[in-house]
Amino acid sequence: MAEKRIHNQWSSRLAFMLAAIGSAVGLGNIWKFPYITGEHGGGAFVLVYLVCVALIGIPVMMAEIMLGRRGRANPINTLRTLAQEEGRSPLWAGVGWLGVFAGFIILSFYSVVAGWALAYIIEAMMGHFQGLSGETSGKLFGALTGSPERLLFWHSLFMLMTMVVVARGVRSGLERLVTWLMPLLFVLLAVLVGYAMAAGDFSRGFHYLFDVNFSEVFYRCSPEGQCTFTAEPVLVALGHAFFTLSLGMGAIMVYGSYMPKEASIAGSTLMIAVADTLVALMAGLAIFPLVFAEGLQPGAGPGLVFVTLPIAFGNMPGGQLVGTLFFLLLVFAAWSSSISLVEPAVAFLTENEHLTRPRAAGLIGITAWVLGIGSVLSFNLWSGEEYQVFGKTLFDIKDYLASNIMLPLGGLFIALFAGWALTRRSAEEELAMRSPGLFGKWYFVIRYIAPAGITLVFLNATGLI
Ligand code: TRP
Repeated sequence: MAEKRIHNQWSSRLAFMLAAIGSAVGLGNIWKFPYITGEHGGGAFVLVYLVCVALIGIPVMMAEIMLGRRGRANPINTLRTLAQEEGRSPLWAGVGWLGVFAGFIILSFYSVVAGWALAYIIEAMMGHFQGLSGETSGKLFGALTGSPERLLFWHSLFMLMTMVVVARGVRSGLERLVTWLMPLLFVLLAVLVGYAMAAGDFSRGFHYLFDVNFSEVFYRCSPEGQCTFTAEPVLVALGHAFFTLSLGMGAIMVYGSYMPKEASIAGSTLMIAVADTLVALMAGLAIFPLVFAEGLQPGAGPGLVFVTLPIAFGNMPGGQLVGTLFFLLLVFAAWSSSISLVEPAVAFLTENEHLTRPRAAGLIGITAWVLGIGSVLSFNLWSGEEYQVFGKTLFDIKDYLASNIMLPLGGLFIALFAGWALTRRSAEEELAMRSPGLFGKWYFVIRYIAPAGITLVFLNATGLI
């Protein structure tokens, strides 16, 4: 059986780490984490999210990297050949397909939000943040999202940027991009946290993020004061753990397939998860103190970060420069993430359909761009109720479907594959952990805890139990 295997490889473990962190750290940390935390009431939601990262995200990431490195091909082929080697059903390849579709859906809204960041580089540079208040900042953002032409322009530009890097290939395209930009983003976030301490209501923001009050998160009250229990925030937290770590659709699997044999999977995973979580928490610490100081609503929705931070840039010394730099780095972070969203599809098209990378990139880019038009219109022409389903716009629906359903489902199958379809010996050999005790713990979690946890959250959120 002559299955074509990937010969591409990262130049070192560091290169793999940077690419994986580049994939993980993105809009999910800086845009999505604060706004969904605000929509779900703060501390208790953050705690559930952290538990999901530790208990399900980290073990599933290890499984994805391990499977990718063992299969050395795109996720579809990887799952098919590994299943074959272990005498399992070729249907496992379907999990790879699910991931490819999830990647398209995510990119089709990710690119639009990244477009906001692109547009805000210009706004910052032109000094449009000068002296902004909560109200005027909201207007500035509304003017952007209210204009289909502007959104379409920036969405197109970001898609083009992504496809240019994708066409050039992971090594030449990506490694250089993340090496020094990620640390710089981190420094800038630290500056913003410092500003939030000085100028925001830091104590209130801090307590909002870290004080755990389950009743506020898990009970939804009607205007008449009728409160009912809801487990939906747990599903959102779980979905976000997958989203922020780039799990459940084969992105990390395909990056793992380019990983050198000798690099430690467990150690790398831990570092990626810690870096990713740190960035999200810092973004929260930078944003919520300002939200409260400015009298904004934490639950304002997807625009939260884009309305809040410009107020800071418009009022701090040197804010024009800091603001420009911030949105520039946010674009870079989104760029290194979006690339990984299509890498499974690109690897599939080049390996199985023998397309060149530029051709594969073009095909994928055009498809995701067309899908993205729906996300663009969700904020203006199609924002009305007649275009909504369950009070959600097309943009919201795509995010919900991909993040809260497809990714956890993909993660569930990956855990089941690693824990049950693969033999214990194969898993142990590929993970090559130094401590056998630690392997035993991972194996237990991937066989029982992760699948049971994901299933329970699903059943609970759909109201079945
Ligand atoms: N993790 C990225 C972020 O937080 C988004 C992302 C990139 C992603 N690749 C992914 C999400 C794969 C899910 C699956 O911005």
